Amino acid sequence: IGMLAAAAMAVTPIASALTVGFSQIGSESGWRTAETQSIKSAAQERNIDLKFSDAQQKQENQIKALRSFIAQGVDAIILAPVVETGWDQVLREAKRSKIPVFLVDRGVKVRDNSLYVTKIASDFVEEGRLAGAWLAAKTSGDCKIAELQGTVGSSAAIDRKKGFADVIDLFPRMSIIRSQSGDFTRSGGKKVMESFLKAEHGGKTICAVYSHNDDMALGAIQAIQEAGLQPSKDILIISIDGVPDIFKAMMEGQTNASIELKSDLGNPTFDAIKAYLAGDKLPKWIKTQGNLYLPDTAKEEYQRRSSM
Ligand code: AHR
Repeated sequence: IGMLAAAAMAVTPIASALTVGFSQIGSESGWRTAETQSIKSAAQERNIDLKFSDAQQKQENQIKALRSFIAQGVDAIILAPVVETGWDQVLREAKRSKIPVFLVDRGVKVRDNSLYVTKIASDFVEEGRLAGAWLAAKTSGDCKIAELQGTVGSSAAIDRKKGFADVIDLFPRMSIIRSQSGDFTRSGGKKVMESFLKAEHGGKTICAVYSHNDDMALGAIQAIQEAGLQPSKDILIISIDGVPDIFKAMMEGQTNASIELKSDLGNPTFDAIKAYLAGDKLPKWIKTQGNLYLPDTAKEEYQRRSSM
């Protein structure tokens, strides 16, 4: 009987402690795929029943997903909001149903901040400032910049643009001569960069590219090479995320710098959910930190990150 019971336990799944809905933006970048993976595997390790929904970049899909999570009566909702505004109504519905909402990686602008519990994310304004400071130092404050913006209306694009501008505005010989959204994708970055190069005499007037993420920078690198210029030398490149592919590009001398955005948000997010459900009071923003990386450590970073 003992052996039979043990065998039965081995095949009977243990009931999940919690059910959590996760509304993800999509899979526009390597960084986003890593974030999804982190949240899915942390849920699995903790025996959490995760209801995952991919919004394919559309806020209306995220709103639908949230309503479905509410209807299913989940214990908590994780939301990675594609844009900043337009969330008040659906978050009010969650609150009315007493379902706590946790924001990951991007922020929202709502009239009433009690509509969400906390945001687990980095400081995008700081990232922009760090990129601006690196470029100012590298060019002695003299540089004409092409900016590849992230998704229009996203907190990541708005704040990274703002932080960067805060710094370069201090230098009279630094200016943004071209700025457009590449939607955080590699193909978007390539397409927009091609149009910048065309408009700027084949790129001769561009000193540097500031890209709101690594994937767009990787697309820009291709466009610069195809235009017969050397990325990282003829045109400097700085971007944000710290994905393995950008370290590979650094090792190959194709880009200059990347600011890390932590993608392993699974454990901090579920820690926050657990603490909240146990009655703890959480800060409104649980900040993650990232560093600036340069080619000197690219090889070890690439090896470390691609084996994770
Ligand atoms: O919100 C974070 C940003 O979204 C990342 O920098 C980018 O790669 C992603 O798609």
